[in-house]
Amino acid sequence: MSGIPHDKYEPKTGFEKWLDVRLPIVRLLYDTIMIPTPKNLNWWWIWGIVLAFALVLQIVTGIVLAMHYTPHVEMAFASIEHIMRNVNGGAVLRYTHMNGASLFFLAVYIHMFRGLFYGSYKAPREVTWIIGMLIYLAMMATGFMGYVLPWGQMSFWGATVITGLFGAIPFVGDALQTWLLGGPAVDNATLNRFFSLHYLLPFIIAALVIVHIWAFHTTGNNNPSGVEVRRGSKAEVKKDTLPFWPYFVIKDLFALAVILVVFFAVVGFMPNYLGAPENYIEANPLATPAEIVPEWYFLPFYAILRSFTSDVWVVQIASFVTGGIVDAKFFGVLAMFGAIIVMALVPWLDTSRVRSGKYRPMFRWWFYLLIIDFIVLMWAGARPAQPPYSTISLIGSTYWFAYFLVILPLLGIIEKPAKMPETIEEDFNNHYPSAKTPAE
Ligand code: HEM
Repeated sequence: MSGIPHDKYEPKTGFEKWLDVRLPIVRLLYDTIMIPTPKNLNWWWIWGIVLAFALVLQIVTGIVLAMHYTPHVEMAFASIEHIMRNVNGGAVLRYTHMNGASLFFLAVYIHMFRGLFYGSYKAPREVTWIIGMLIYLAMMATGFMGYVLPWGQMSFWGATVITGLFGAIPFVGDALQTWLLGGPAVDNATLNRFFSLHYLLPFIIAALVIVHIWAFHTTGNNNPSGVEVRRGSKAEVKKDTLPFWPYFVIKDLFALAVILVVFFAVVGFMPNYLGAPENYIEANPLATPAEIVPEWYFLPFYAILRSFTSDVWVVQIASFVTGGIVDAKFFGVLAMFGAIIVMALVPWLDTSRVRSGKYRPMFRWWFYLLIIDFIVLMWAGARPAQPPYSTISLIGSTYWFAYFLVILPLLGIIEKPAKMPETIEEDFNNHYPSAKTPAE
């Protein structure tokens, strides 16, 4: 195929030339959009664009919602009802934002597990991975604080339980919790600061996304084979890659369109499916709901938090050794954050030299088990904290840590990898024998 602008930017018009020596912004955009991209990327690589779309969607709908919302304990709940009933398009706006958070988390989990399977975290992409983990933490904080804003029963009690976790930290816990809440309990000061931070954090996420993209544009994308693009000559690069525009843009937009059909069907026909009915009851500090269940996307980590009760022997040992400083509650908090930290450290815990899970016959099965584990934890997190659910959560939590801390380091030593393609071109041609490399 001819005419693929695969090369460097050439300013054409007089204005472009003038601007290019003063601010090469068009060059930057051109190089970004035309970046050589491995031509064997499969459908698991569309989720980055879905995430970028979800971020913009949340920011745009959020800004308009903020025009009608009041962050005050006397008015927050009523202002949401006002948005739903009186504001033009208010219900669609709110339901889009509400379910947009679920789309965002669905996309991020698929994106992260894609990275875990194809070894996208491995050298030289560790920084892309770490920035991704920071984005994920910022997303969790944003989601948590956003959920408090409608000031329903779950908003209030969820905030009380989660901020209470900080109170479990020995010595400084109480002071820290009071500082976070702006007072002794979840109240107006809490609602105000959560609103302020909920508005701010998405812009921090946007800045982190730019650094994330910068990082993987520096190393080049990973791809399903895990084999790097050949950098020897321009001809070789062209055999392994295609420019991002138009090939991957069109592919990603097609996928996004399909996903949005499903998304807006949910927004239109079952907007409250994923939400808790209790959140349509205004917050009441005097009436605790029977079960306090967080949003679905927090459930796996919530299950890990609750699984370490005082009956568990590791907790008992930790408590004994530390003279009671580490109690069950604090252990649970450490486990919850620890579960995220071990994931962040995966570039250094995985000892295998083979990047893609496709060529790792043993790894695959452990990885599939990790996905099942994540789903089981999500399910158990929504159940009462009693047997058999607490036992299931404990087994699930143990597997989570074992995967990152024991299985991955060991597999790199004992596993015999399968035969890999030499080049991306070879991998591509194996899949599409009839396709030809574009003529030069
Ligand atoms: C707002 C959130 C995020 C956005 C907009 C975003 C965007 C992107 C995009 C556009 C790509 C290019 C390839 C693709 O589409 O898959 C990418 C790659 C990648 N992302 Fe993210 N990402 C986000 C969050 C995360 C998180 C939470 C992680 C994991 C902790 C992560 C880890 C990675 C890795 C390792 C790659 C490299 C894969 C490759 O080289 O092909 N990202 N990201």
